[in-house]
Amino acid sequence: MERRRRGLSFIVAALLVVAAMPFPGGEAATPLRTDYYKFSCPHLEDIVRAEVARKIQETVVTIPATLRQVFHDCMVGGCDATVLIASRNNDAEKDAKDNESLAGDGFDTVNRVKTAVEKWCPGVVSCADIMHLAAREVVFQSKGPYWSVELGRLDGLVSRASDVNGKLPDPDMHVKELMPVFQRNGFSLVDMVALSGAHTVGFAHCTRFLNRLYYYNSTMPTDPSIHPDYAKQLKDACPSNVGATIAVNMDPVTPVQFDNKYYTNLQYKLGLFTSDQVLYTDGSTKPIVDKFAADQKAFFDAFVAAMIKLGRLGVKTGNNGEIRRVCTAFNH
Ligand code: HEM
Ligand SMILES: *[C@@H]1O[C@H](CO)[C@@H](O)[C@H](O)[C@H]1NC(C)=O
Ligand SMILES: *[C@@H]1O[C@H](CO)[C@@H](O)[C@H](O)[C@H]1NC(C)=O
Repeated sequence: MERRRRGLSFIVAALLVVAAMPFPGGEAATPLRTDYYKFSCPHLEDIVRAEVARKIQETVVTIPATLRQVFHDCMVGGCDATVLIASRNNDAEKDAKDNESLAGDGFDTVNRVKTAVEKWCPGVVSCADIMHLAAREVVFQSKGPYWSVELGRLDGLVSRASDVNGKLPDPDMHVKELMPVFQRNGFSLVDMVALSGAHTVGFAHCTRFLNRLYYYNSTMPTDPSIHPDYAKQLKDACPSNVGATIAVNMDPVTPVQFDNKYYTNLQYKLGLFTSDQVLYTDGSTKPIVDKFAADQKAFFDAFVAAMIKLGRLGVKTGNNGEIRRVCTAFNH
């Protein structure tokens, strides 16, 4: 009798909690919830935090690699971990030319976290959710903002290299070309500028910006929107015949810290790609750059809001997805 009463009051309390929850989403309703694994995998966030910390200690490349991977996954057919699928015939998403040499340490991070999570909660947590938790961790563990990650995505069932075409921005793009790539995914100009701040960490291969150093136009070999000292430094690191494997820091000032230096760099003509520097030279985005350069908290708040938006793209539920046993392969 006593037991039954307690059970009943638990149900009543649970109903009250549900009733008190705000309608999820607001402008963009989402099936995702920050407490999705609260009962099915209560230690999930601690496991992810510890594994990511261990991996960062081995190599700081973990930070940018894990962050960039989530952007590429979500922009191509949604946040469904299909970018992780190892192909049999070189025709999966990760084989697309536009994978733009996603660094192997991002894949390794997710695989390791998945292995650790499976020991505690087998078959419960999707690779897509692990990617987002790991991305939050690398940002937070490099002194960036912390946020509660929305969870409950399933892993996608289709990964095709051909789906990547045209979905990702190109480093040679100007604001007029960048805008539609982001806008068709529901991002605002502020979101676009905030997300670009991810280039405060990580590396870029010389071949991705060589045109700015040597082939700008027929009268001017070097893009005048690069500071002359920075251009010289980049030319030293990247001679015109540079090998395909040579890379430089994207943020020349604080390369392994997630901060707002990316924006102050733009004010000093220290943006690495055309797609970075144009955010400052274009009048439509310049005020946003100035704001983020002056106010790191404004950048962090905008970055978090945009990452949550990114995480809602193309979420798979029901029959459109599965919980993969291994992140690099479909279950069947
Ligand atoms: C605005 C349009 C964007 C363009 C044109 C762009 C382009 C690129 C390119 C070409 C690279 C260099 C890759 C290489 O040479 O290995 C790169 C690196 C990177 N991107 Fe972006 N990106 C954009 C937005 C983003 C966003 C929204 C994020 C994440 C939220 C992101 C995160 C990164 C990171 C962290 C790296 C460093 C990767 C590493 O060190 O392994 N990028 N990006
Ligand atoms: C990206 O695609 C190229 C082929 O275009 C491939 O050689 C490379 O291994 C891929 N990178 C990753 C990390 O899968
Ligand atoms: C090359 O670029 C500079 C600076 O943007 C410009 O003044 C010049 O007219 C350009 N030359 C040609 C041939 O387009």
